[in-house]
Formats: sequence, C-alpha cells, structure tokens
Amino acid sequence: MFYTSFILSLAFSTALCQKQPTATVIPNSCFNSQADFSASFNDLYPWGTDHNGAARMNASQINVSNGVLTLTAQPVSGQPPAHSGGQTIAINYLSGTVYAKDYFTVAAGGGYDFIGDFQAPVEQGTWPAFWLTAVNSWPPEIDLAEWKGSGLISFNTFNTSSQVAALNVNYLTPGSFHTIKGEVRDKNGKDVSINFYLNGTLVTTQYGEGFVGAPFYLIIDLQMEGSSGSPGPTTNTTYSVQNLEVLSYNP
Ligand SMILES: *[C@@H]1O[C@H](CO)[C@@H](O)[C@H](O)[C@H]1NC(C)=O
Ligand SMILES: *[C@@H]1O[C@H](CO)[C@@H](O)[C@H](O)[C@H]1NC(C)=O
Ligand SMILES: *[C@@H]1O[C@H](CO)[C@@H](O)[C@H](O)[C@H]1NC(C)=O
Ligand SMILES: *[C@@H]1O[C@H](CO)[C@@H](O)[C@H](O)[C@H]1NC(C)=O
Ligand SMILES: *[C@@H]1O[C@H](CO)[C@@H](O)[C@H](O)[C@H]1NC(C)=O
Repeated sequence: MFYTSFILSLAFSTALCQKQPTATVIPNSCFNSQADFSASFNDLYPWGTDHNGAARMNASQINVSNGVLTLTAQPVSGQPPAHSGGQTIAINYLSGTVYAKDYFTVAAGGGYDFIGDFQAPVEQGTWPAFWLTAVNSWPPEIDLAEWKGSGLISFNTFNTSSQVAALNVNYLTPGSFHTIKGEVRDKNGKDVSINFYLNGTLVTTQYGEGFVGAPFYLIIDLQMEGSSGSPGPTTNTTYSVQNLEVLSYNP
C-alpha cells in the first residue's frame, strides 16, 4: 500500500515536473519524401564536401525513401586529396553527409532533445556519426553518437580540443536499429548538461562549458578511415537513420 502510493505519487510528481517541448524543430516525418528532407536538411557538410577522413561527400550517396535516410560510402580511386588541419588526406570513398538547415542554440532555461534510430556500421575504417558542432568556432562539439570502427559506440563532449569527456560503450547487434537520444539542457545559465541515452537507457551525463547561447550545426555523416582506422572496406557501406526528431525546450 505504502509502496503503491509512493510509486503513484512519484509518477505524478515526475509528470508534473516533466517540461513539455515548446516546438518541433525537425519533425519525425523528415525522411518521408525528398520534399520533407529538403525542408529540414541540406546535402554535404556546412563547409563543403571534405572533412577529416578519407570520404568526399556527394549528393549521389544520399537516399531518402520510406522514412529512412541511407548514406552509402562507395570505394573510389582517382580523386584529388582532401586538406584538413594541415594534413593532406587521400580520398578513398565517395560518401554521404547531411546537416540540418536550423542552428541549435540552447537558450537560458531551455534545451533540445535529439532523437533517432540508427543502423550504423562498426567495421574498421567506417566512421558514422550524429553530432553537433559549433557554427562560429571549434570546439564546442557534442557527439550525440559516434562509431569509430572498433565495434563500440562513443559519446563525447569537447569543451576544448584537450578537455574532452569521451565514453566508449558496448554496442550489440550493429545490424539492427538502435535508438539514440541526447537531452541537451541549460544547467546554470552558462553551461549545458547532456544526457546520452542508448535504447532508452541513460548511459552517461556530460557537461559543456559555456555552450548556452552558442549556435550549433547538427550533422549526420558517414565519414571513413581517419579516427576509425584503415584500410576501410572495399565494398559499399551503408548507414541508415529513421524516426529522426528534434524537439526544442527553449522558452
Ligand atoms: C558529385 O559527383 C558527381 C559525379 O562524380 C560530380 O560531377 C559532382 O561534381 C560531385 N559533386 C560535388 C559537390 O563534388
Ligand atoms: C555502391 O553505391 C553506389 C552509390 O550509391 C551505387 O551506385 C552502386 O551500385 C553500389 N554498388 C554496389 C556493388 O552495390
Ligand atoms: C533509394 O532506396 C530505395 C529503397 O532501397 C530504392 O528503392 C530507390 O531506388 C533508391 N533511390 C535511388 C535514387 O537510388
Ligand atoms: C538496441 O535495441 C535493438 C533493437 O531492439 C537491439 O537489437 C540491440 O541489441 C540493442 N542494443 C544495445 C546496445 O542494447
Ligand atoms: C567541461 O566544462 C564543464 C563546465 O565547467 C565541466 O563540468 C566539465 O567537467 C568539463 N568537461 C571536462 C571533460 O573537463
């Protein structure tokens, strides 16, 4: 009896305390059609086709159909190298990347939920990710989920290039979809907290210094090699996302 009423009052107070979203920034219909996709996303990285790995992004590697976004990395030869961070990087793949048209700026008292189901490759040389990177500088960065070719999934927050919270955890049955949710919230008017969930279970909480008020890009990319090792696969690799949704809690 005590237990039942305790549970009931707990459920009641949790319901009362749970804030409701103030807006849907990206609706979960965003991959239903090309028009739905184009309402929320652009092709490539915000800065172009190349980043810090062996893939060059091209719209030909992006497929949106039946509510699923699929990015395909395809081995290629004869591409000119990429240049990133003072490095010259051989391009061994054409692949796909998309980024949200909206910027995500945690307001005082606010935040966002970033939610989706991901079927991500984990083989050596495959480097899919679902991440936020600052529009005006680097870092800050929040890796809502990243897979670096080791079989594990990583959850990371960069305050600076050297002050980084990074957690790798086991990732079972990569061939199936896994639900990822990142709850990003204002903590104290200046810093944010990030609750990282995998399949509905809270895995870790990290903190980002001074992230309140900073605009972020949201990126879904299938980068290759780089931090995920090399050589990568010699056949096509796919990375699929469905039920993607971004909810705002900003006042
Ligand atoms: C994408 O690939 C096609 C065919 O290889 C090429 O013509 C086009 O320039 C590429 N687009 C970009 C943005 O590199
Ligand atoms: C590899 O992917 C490309 C681009 O999506 C596609 O055109 C090609 O047919 C694929 N190759 C194989 C062997 O599936
Ligand atoms: C996209 O994927 C769907 C489902 O696999 C397929 O039927 C369709 O032909 C693909 N579209 C393109 C442009 O490759
Ligand atoms: C997540 O859920 C999927 C689908 O139920 C399951 O196949 C997978 O093993 C789960 N992953 C982890 C890491 O628990
Ligand atoms: C980043 O900064 C926040 C706020 O100061 C702090 O709580 C967190 O521990 C920092 N992260 C790391 C990895 O030091």
